[in-house]
Amino acid sequence: MATANMLSSLFPLFSLVCFISIFCLLSLSKKASISSSSPTYPHFHLVKPTMVTGNIEPNATSGSNPYTSSSSSCDYSDGSWIHDPDVRLDRYDSSCKEIFKGWNCILNKKSNGRDIVKWRWKPRNCHLPPFDPLKFLHTYRDTNIGFVGDSLNRNMFVSLFCALRRVAGDVKKWRPSGADRGFTFLHYNLTIAYHRTNLLARYGSWSANSNGGKLEDLGYKEGYRVDVDIPEGTWEKAPGFHDILIFNTGHWWWAPSKFDPIKSPMLFFERGLPLIPPIPPDVGFDKVLKHTIRFVEKTMRPSAIKLFRTQSPRHFEGGDWDQGGSCQRLQPLSPKEVEELFSLTKNGTNVEARLVNLHLYKSLKGSNFHILDITHMSEFRADAHPSTTGGKKHDDCMHWCLPGITDTWNDLFVTHLNSLKIRN
Ligand SMILES: *[C@@H]1O[C@H](CO)[C@@H](O)[C@H](O)[C@H]1NC(C)=O
Ligand SMILES: *[C@@H]1O[C@H](CO)[C@@H](O)[C@H](O)[C@H]1NC(C)=O
Ligand SMILES: *[C@@H]1O[C@H](CO)[C@@H](O)[C@H](O)[C@H]1NC(C)=O
Repeated sequence: MATANMLSSLFPLFSLVCFISIFCLLSLSKKASISSSSPTYPHFHLVKPTMVTGNIEPNATSGSNPYTSSSSSCDYSDGSWIHDPDVRLDRYDSSCKEIFKGWNCILNKKSNGRDIVKWRWKPRNCHLPPFDPLKFLHTYRDTNIGFVGDSLNRNMFVSLFCALRRVAGDVKKWRPSGADRGFTFLHYNLTIAYHRTNLLARYGSWSANSNGGKLEDLGYKEGYRVDVDIPEGTWEKAPGFHDILIFNTGHWWWAPSKFDPIKSPMLFFERGLPLIPPIPPDVGFDKVLKHTIRFVEKTMRPSAIKLFRTQSPRHFEGGDWDQGGSCQRLQPLSPKEVEELFSLTKNGTNVEARLVNLHLYKSLKGSNFHILDITHMSEFRADAHPSTTGGKKHDDCMHWCLPGITDTWNDLFVTHLNSLKIRN
């Protein structure tokens, strides 16, 4: 928080732009003047959406990914939410201290806070069992597990922590190098940590040098320097420490209120030099993914397990987060409503969910990352965000209530891990 406050006094602009939902997690400042409606980058490459909603791993990866054939025997992303009023809230509850305040929908009295977990994801052709926390602790003793990414990965990390905490006995709170938070379950020597990084790549504010330069010659005065080939310091050491890493990135690449294409554009650098001509964010995104994958494959032990989680969908209806958009539904969406909200051809407010995934699938093809596809199952759950109870001036239709659907993400995560372990 101290750093955040310092930043906001250094850069008054910060307090204007901080109202983007992710950023508000930090509760930086309460100034409410919000600039015009969010411009959108003009360089999206639209491709048919079937790739995204289909298999866990599209066909194209099968040549180089040794795990593809068996993990695609069940497509966990194809299914529906079944209402099950008898589900008991026994994995963990709202008393778990690690739950970020704005996500604790039961304590915050969201009207459907207790109903969110009464829906069970049923893949069409198989079963996704709730994972057993005690068995997990036994199976993954002497293991380090890192979540690397933005606040949506923290949301998933917290869900895993709360489930394990409940059954684990002694826990030591500490932080592996660079991590934002971390815990070791002492009886099992199992460590889980969250490494916060918005873009995966290192970035910082940039302003024109009075001696001039290539960007200055093009008229750039201010922006953010993004080094596409340098991992952010918060997770740079994570591949050397963890046995299992789960990555995400996405929301910040589509956050024009922070990275305003005119006032504070992303300026990409590679090998320490600005990329000229400047590239738009979606091209920078591809470069960062490419370098991240290469870096992780080079620095992790060959036996380590690397996963990339697909994009978490937002559910703003009636406008974006800064235009009075809200998410007041009390039940999951129908398949038709999901397509209305998310299809690429409709190009609606929340379209970035599937756009981000197109980039991820393209970049991960041929790598030995496993893809954890949580997007489509989550697209249905317009009812599962903190909404007006998130403690912000605007609705939070991006993060998820806890307990909630990141519990299901962890079921998928554990199912996936177990299937790898059995095969090895
Ligand atoms: C994917 O693989 C299946 C089985 O190998 C094949 O039948 C199908 O045509 C492939 N689809 C694409 C898009 O290549
Ligand atoms: C705990 O687990 C780590 C691997 O994550 C291992 O290096 C270390 O030796 C283990 N400690 C004990 C006491 O078994
Ligand atoms: C999608 O909608 C935004 C406005 O919300 C617009 O700026 C953009 O050009 C549209 N993209 C496509 C591919 O139609």
